[in-house]
Amino acid sequence: MSAGPPATAAPATAPRPPLLVVENLSRAYRLPRPHPFAPAPVVPALAGVSFTLEAGRSLGVVGESGSGKSTLARLVMALERPDAGQVRLDGADLHRLRPAALRAARAKFQMVFQDPYGSLNPRSTVLQTVAEPLAVLQQATPAEQLERAAQALADVGLAREDLHKYPHEFSGGQRQRLAIARALITRPALIVADEPVSALDLSVQAQVLNLLQDLQQRYGMSYLFISHDLAVVDHLCDEVLVLHEGRAVEQGPVRQIVHAPQHAYTRRLLAAATMQTHTALGALEVPQAPEAPEAQEAKDAQAVPEDPKGPAA
Ligand SMILES: Nc1ncnc2c1ncn2[C@@H]1O[C@H](COP(=O)(O)OP(=O)(O)O)[C@@H](O)[C@H]1O
Ligand SMILES: [Mg+2]
Repeated sequence: MSAGPPATAAPATAPRPPLLVVENLSRAYRLPRPHPFAPAPVVPALAGVSFTLEAGRSLGVVGESGSGKSTLARLVMALERPDAGQVRLDGADLHRLRPAALRAARAKFQMVFQDPYGSLNPRSTVLQTVAEPLAVLQQATPAEQLERAAQALADVGLAREDLHKYPHEFSGGQRQRLAIARALITRPALIVADEPVSALDLSVQAQVLNLLQDLQQRYGMSYLFISHDLAVVDHLCDEVLVLHEGRAVEQGPVRQIVHAPQHAYTRRLLAAATMQTHTALGALEVPQAPEAPEAQEAKDAQAVPEDPKGPAA
């Protein structure tokens, strides 16, 4: 009856939603009762953590051992359910998807674990290991899986001949390259890496970090990069979230937080990071005087900060 424009017309420039939105995520663990009549102690591993991650960008999560980093990783990966809160990837609430939909969605987010020895099945060939995320999707023929696995190996600097070897034939750094190849094979939009270089020698750490950086430039995925080492995060990430006893005590552009940490806890992490890694990475400069006057205002500008490292790849 009305000749006006259709009511459903979308605005021409609808803003793209962030790739990953984590809202108020919490998880507590119940420990065994110390004796039959005692209440079970509860460990609040993660308490009300929120952040957003834009496509193509990297968020580092730092904190000392036990601060809740791996718990956060498992919840974001939907390997475990939160007590409260949401994880939305490309708009889908991962913890509300049905199993089949979650399985299909997993192509978009993959994980690299800390331990390059324990995370690869010793009885599987490299081909089986690297192609597994693709095989689970049941959309690629064996020949396609072979080709994509060979490509993924090339992407991480390994050879096609390596497809038929077993994990024990590789060094720690090479195994972590295999784990990265496996994460890459579905061309995910997000890779969650939980301390991916912590088990490696310092010289190998730098190589693997550089590989991750190159891959991000080539394929434009986002990283949720977990580390106890602020120097490593400074090397790789745009932004950082500092976890302390399950809570986010500081978050913002990584350069800003490295130069003007607001919390004593962050300053402690920085001091530890400087000692451990700065010689290997050459990336961390800690100023003598932490008082940058603009830091406090800039601290709240968390949503879409200016890229402190130059143009996005
Ligand atoms: N499955 C679990 N059962 C009981 N407690 C756990 C479990 N996983 C983690 N925790 C506890 O939750 C807290 C956070 O652990 P975690 O997320 O592994 O920290 P991080 O990775 O930063 O070292 C720790 O106190 C840890 O002991
Ligand atoms: Mg951990």
